[in-house]
Amino acid sequence: VIDHGGRFAWLAILAIAACDRSLAEPGELRPVSPAIVRIDASDVIARFECNRCHEVPDTRPPPIEKQCVGCHQQIESGTFPAKPAAIERWRKRIVSLRHAPALRDSDRLRRDWVKQFLLHPHHVRPGSIAEMPRLAITDAEATRLATYLVPSEDETPLDESPDMVARGESLFHALACGRCHRFTGAAADDPALHAAGTLPGAAWTLAPDLRFARDRMQPARLAAWIASPRGAMPSLGIGADDARALAAFVATTPVAPQARPAVPARLPVLTRPVTWDEVSREVFHDRCWHCHAVPDLARGDGGPGNSGGFGFPPRGLDVSSYAGISEGAIDDDGERHSIFERLPDGTPRLIAYLMARYREEAGGAVDGIHGMPLGLPPLSLERIQLVESWIAQGRPM
Ligand code: HEC
Ligand code: HEC
Ligand code: HEC
Ligand code: HEC
Repeated sequence: VIDHGGRFAWLAILAIAACDRSLAEPGELRPVSPAIVRIDASDVIARFECNRCHEVPDTRPPPIEKQCVGCHQQIESGTFPAKPAAIERWRKRIVSLRHAPALRDSDRLRRDWVKQFLLHPHHVRPGSIAEMPRLAITDAEATRLATYLVPSEDETPLDESPDMVARGESLFHALACGRCHRFTGAAADDPALHAAGTLPGAAWTLAPDLRFARDRMQPARLAAWIASPRGAMPSLGIGADDARALAAFVATTPVAPQARPAVPARLPVLTRPVTWDEVSREVFHDRCWHCHAVPDLARGDGGPGNSGGFGFPPRGLDVSSYAGISEGAIDDDGERHSIFERLPDGTPRLIAYLMARYREEAGGAVDGIHGMPLGLPPLSLERIQLVESWIAQGRPM
């Protein structure tokens, strides 16, 4: 179905959702993925370059030099064309963005959850350092992407009787689901079992915190998923009845409200000398470089924070050298400005961007600012202190 202005596609989706329901047989688990007909959202996907990190249904991946996850995986597996010594060195350094969920599996999620997540992303997978980046996306674009990723919804309720829940709970422990999954706020959460995870790779990294499953997932697809998981979850050979019991447990066991982290206060600037070498090594090269590099380092692309990408215009900010960072960034009018200039409250612009990540993690946002590093956890307060001290000392070489 091609989205000619949207209306036709919406009708088709409604029709499919209706058929889906009428085909259900009592006692039978529906497939997670019925015959899928998606609306066309290729223009939005191309604009935000979702496929630099995700496998996107019906979409070809970009060239390898643009693939954030794909290139990191090639380095991890040793198939990237480079000298073995370099691969060895890089492999140790790449920890953050080695995996991202495949979006063909998002059809298990609720459409509205996906929409809200695109507008206000938050951390779902405790094993993944990388998070979904906050994009400059409109409500209408998020709606189209969510409709594309979740072509139909199945709201058939689960059997949540106490017997089912109790059986699910004992299966959850017996099958050690906590080897991969955290379940924060629930009595079944077992951080030690999770931390002992001797399962490297995608299965551990991509296991969601199950506290979100009841809001994220369509109830009928929760049971179907446990019986026949997809994506990075291996099949555990669970029969339909056990899967229903596990689903009832996952969907109803009480969870304590999520404690949102408070926005911390900045540390006072250091009195000891801080040099460019130190801030470059500890901060810019460590975390920022791949999105704010000189173009030839990343094979012609200076990264989304320099050459533009993920729907952002080119900001021209290169933090890979003293000369680069001194040139600052390009604003919406095409003028260059310093990233060290002080904002009206006296905070250097760069420090405001770094602190904004803490505000985002606390569930808020800072007007007109995307917290940095984009899509990664906030820098530690000590690292922010290091950068602020270097700025306060007049940015010595
Ligand atoms: C820089 C890499 C990156 C880009 C670009 C990106 N994502 Fe993500 N996305 C992630 C990561 C990492 C996660 C997993 C986050 C988590 O679970 O905490 C994620 C999670 C998601 C999820 C939730 C799926 C699930 O199973 O939890 C959806 C939906 C999603 N992304 C859609 C998109 C769309 C649509 C775009 C383009 C508009 C996009 N992403 C661009 C990295 C990226
Ligand atoms: C052509 C291959 C390639 C591409 C494409 C690529 N990276 Fe990297 N990435 C690397 C290598 C190699 C390193 C290690 C470099 C070093 O530390 O010397 C690295 C390191 C990183 C690091 C720091 C180490 C860590 O894991 O925390 C981050 C963050 C990162 N990349 C993010 C990205 C993002 C975001 C993109 C997409 C915009 C991207 N990369 C695209 C090869 C690539
Ligand atoms: C070997 C690791 C592993 C084990 C063991 C495991 N899972 Fe998973 N599970 C995953 C991964 C990885 C995903 C996400 C797949 C993806 O997004 O590609 C997942 C996804 C899920 C989801 C979807 C949650 C959401 O919010 O999207 C549910 C529900 C789930 N698992 C339940 C279970 C239950 C119940 C058990 C125990 C019977 C279990 N899992 C055991 C790795 C595992
Ligand atoms: C995943 C890619 C990515 C990573 C990692 C990243 N950035 Fe960015 N950065 C961007 C993008 C994209 C923009 C443009 C955002 C916009 O236009 O609102 C940007 C903008 C900025 C700006 C605003 C420039 C201006 O004044 O307009 C600053 C400052 C900045 N980044 C600093 C950093 C620092 C410091 C780090 C490392 C701690 C970092 N970034 C890591 C992608 C990234």
